[in-house]
This record gives sequence, structure tokens and C-alpha cells, in this order.
Amino acid sequence: MCKPSTIAIDGPAASGKSTIGYYLAQRLAYLYLDTGALYRAVTWAALQQGLPIMDEACITRLAEEVEIDVLPPAVEDGRQYTVTLAGVDITWAIRTPEVDRAVSPVSIYPGVREALTQQMRRIAAQGRVVMVGRDIGTVVLPHADLKIYVVASAEERAHRRLLDRTQQGCAPDFEQMLQEIRRRDEIDSGRAAAPLRPAADAVMFDTTSMTKEQMFDAVEQLVDSFACDSGG
Ligand code: DC
Repeated sequence: MCKPSTIAIDGPAASGKSTIGYYLAQRLAYLYLDTGALYRAVTWAALQQGLPIMDEACITRLAEEVEIDVLPPAVEDGRQYTVTLAGVDITWAIRTPEVDRAVSPVSIYPGVREALTQQMRRIAAQGRVVMVGRDIGTVVLPHADLKIYVVASAEERAHRRLLDRTQQGCAPDFEQMLQEIRRRDEIDSGRAAAPLRPAADAVMFDTTSMTKEQMFDAVEQLVDSFACDSGG
């Protein structure tokens, strides 16, 4: 059977795109790249070094200089991959509420996007890759064989983030979570450079009322129905 070699998965925060992308990559034995991790790593480095997030030139220079790697999971603690910055494992450090709050402003800067997009394309060059983000199908890999755009209601996504945070030992408030999700949607969709939106040829995938198993079945059917002569 013919399989898509490059798969682009986009969608808003907590829509289920990473869960779906990771599953597909495992099933197909492809490389998995969650591109949000790169934006988060730059943001974490900026916070760590006490750099002003609103200083575009300074944050752009940082993005051009930092040495980020996304590697297969080094530890069995529920992670999908290991993120290192200059060799230091920052996999969980990039998932804190502080990074959540600062990452959308960082990802607005065109120079930051340019630097990270180059890294993503290098990684995808050999094919057999599932890449997850906001602009993969529209900007990073506009010629991807299969593009999937994952959505879910803001309430459902806030609920999912609440569960993640509770598992990390925090006790956030649902309304606060919902507000943060909506704020990030606005920034991600409203920015001038590579805004969050589906590619014209993306398959829409609504996970609002799906269990994980239902998501996996549906996405697998999608890949199985991929035809090389029509899909590339
Ligand atoms: O998927 P995530 O929540 O880890 O992404 C973190 C931030 O990075 C998000 O606010 C938007 C940004 N991002 C982006 O602009 N483009 C991508 N390809 C991936 C993430």
C-alpha cells in the first residue's frame, strides 16, 4: 500500500494534534517532530537568561544562536521525545505555565520563525516524517504528501490542558485555563507571520467528542485511504 512520506499536522493548542502525530509516527516508524518544542525551547532559554521577551532583535538573535536538539526519548517518564538545549535536557522545563504564557509572543517574531523553519526543513528533508505545529502545511512543508488540520472546541481543549496540569501536580482553574487557550488562539491566528490556519488542501479533523482510540482509528483510516496517484 502507498503511504504518505511527509505528513503535516496543524491545529490550535490542545486540539489533539500531538497525540495523533505521535501515534502515526510510531505506527509508520517515521520520525516525529513536534515543532512547538522548538518555539518553547527558545522561550525557555530567553526566560532562563532573563532576556526581555518583548525585545524582538534580542530574541531573534537568541533563536539564531541556540543549539536545540529533538531526540528519541532518553528516559521512560511518559515523554514522546527528549529536547536538549546545548546538551541539557529541558523536556519538562518547556512545559511550565511560564513558558506557556511567553511562547506565543516569541512565536510572532518573523526572524524567530525563519530560524526555526530552516531547522524544521533540514530535519524533514529525508522524508518519512510526521511534523506537528501551526504552519507546517501552509509554510514549513507546503508540499507535504498529507496535511491534517486538527480542531476541538475551546472548552474541550481547556479541559484537556486542565487534566495535563493536574497530572503535573498543579491545581489550575478551568476558567483561567479557558481564557489562556482563547488568548493563545487569538495570538496564533492573528499574527502576521505564518498565522494558524488550515492549508487549502488539508483534511479537517474534529476531535471534540472523540476518545483517543477513536482519534487513532480515524487517522489510521485516513492514512490507509491515501492514494499516491492523487496524493503525491
Ligand atoms: O504546540 P505548542 O503549544 O507546544 O506550541 C507552542 C507555541 O509555539 C504556540 O503558541 C504556537 C507556536 N508554534 C508556532 O507558531 N508554529 C509552529 N509550527 C509550532 C508552534
